[in-house]
Amino acid sequence: MQTKYLYINTIGCQMNVYDSEKIAVVLQPLGYELTPSVDTADLIIVNTCAIRGKAEQKAFSFLGRMAKLKRKRPGLIIGMGGCVAQQEGRKILERMPFVDLVFGTHVISRLPEMVTRIEQKRCHLVDKTVYPGINEYDSITGAGSNGCDNYCTYCVVPYVRGRETSRQPEFILSEILELIGTGVRDVTLLGQNVNSYGQKEGLCSFAGLLEKVNALKGLGRLRFTTSHPKDLSEDLMLAFRDLDKLCRHIHLPVQSGANTVLKRMNRKYTRETYLEKIEKLRQICPEIAITSDFIAGFPGETEAEFLETLDLIKTVEYDSLFAFVYSDRPNAPAAHFGDKISETEKKARLQVLLDLQEELTHKKNRSMVGSIQAVLVEGLSRKQPGHMESGKGPIVQWSGRTEGNKIVNFNCADDRETAVPAVEAGYLVDVKIKRALSHSLWGEPVGAKTETADLKGDKSYAA
Ligand code: 5AD
Ligand code: SF4
Repeated sequence: MQTKYLYINTIGCQMNVYDSEKIAVVLQPLGYELTPSVDTADLIIVNTCAIRGKAEQKAFSFLGRMAKLKRKRPGLIIGMGGCVAQQEGRKILERMPFVDLVFGTHVISRLPEMVTRIEQKRCHLVDKTVYPGINEYDSITGAGSNGCDNYCTYCVVPYVRGRETSRQPEFILSEILELIGTGVRDVTLLGQNVNSYGQKEGLCSFAGLLEKVNALKGLGRLRFTTSHPKDLSEDLMLAFRDLDKLCRHIHLPVQSGANTVLKRMNRKYTRETYLEKIEKLRQICPEIAITSDFIAGFPGETEAEFLETLDLIKTVEYDSLFAFVYSDRPNAPAAHFGDKISETEKKARLQVLLDLQEELTHKKNRSMVGSIQAVLVEGLSRKQPGHMESGKGPIVQWSGRTEGNKIVNFNCADDRETAVPAVEAGYLVDVKIKRALSHSLWGEPVGAKTETADLKGDKSYAA
């Protein structure tokens, strides 16, 4: 079969990263191999994100650039998948007629058929499913769960990803086992609201699922994201204490520190119940890293409400956080709320929030200096991939993550004769933290862990 090249541009969350991997897999039988360059591609797919206005603009500006390529090479096939495709459907073709294929979030298994039809007839195709009752993820792509039933008033997810559906534990376990067989050691269970896993379907609890995954032989690290504070059960808190492979890190988006705003957001918890849960979690697992998401300038947010958010950040002392200016999303009720905050004010609030966290992150990082952290090596550091030092073997700078998901860079002599063993991606290395930078840590390896021998060829993977 003739080899053809596929370029995928993935925008958005880990669910999209996951979907993109599946897109590549389902198109393999048609002869498509991944290429890192649009110039060599026969098929270009942009996997889009609709969560905030900015992500959507990014997708359209990428496609705009691809239009130029298509004028030069009319045989090029251009496809758009993901949440914007699901949201806009046929309208995309009116706006961007050079696009050949628009496919929603639940039809990845049908891509080979759609691409074949385009290859043969060069027709435009739109495949936008209205959420079928069945979960395509069971058999084909696979995630912990998908979709969301929470209807936060700012959020587009329930409209583009549909109702929350959880996969049967057997599917998840067998997929992870398969991944372990290919050398994967670090697995992340994904879902927009992953910790309400199984409740609707009457499957096992999410803590029960983690216990089953934790028991799989050969697995190094287990993570999950994203959790809704209202669904953070005591069982799940205890899992951080009891499950040896579960990384002690939780991403627990709070969005705002003001009860009045939380109510308007339909978040279904209060500042007090959120703080109680954080306190309990830290009692059970004192070393847990906690991160969060915030929205600055939600409609009607007063200065006083914003100050309550800053106060919550100081109270919790997050390890790090993501913060965004509020943007109107199609179908999301908040788009019709009054008292919108000006762009200038939203950006100013975002900056104040980020500056505050920067200080706190730096403080947290400084408190780690002197500690020894188990670092799962991800690869060569991007900033300084390697240099030679005269008289010694080449020194290379590696980059990896702690259990709490902090980036640690360290130098390692790539010389098997030195006391420090050479490392590779997938090794778990004990690193003594020497310096705290604002966004990362710097350390020196003090020895590779014994398990590293069987961790060769690891890559992290989301399931
Ligand atoms: N505007 C700004 N931020 C948003 N998020 C979700 N929807 C919006 C929106 N309309 C943020 C939330 C969520 C994260 C994934 O994106 O903080 O947790
Ligand atoms: Fe969106 Fe709220 Fe569901 Fe998260 S919990 S995906 S913010 S609706």
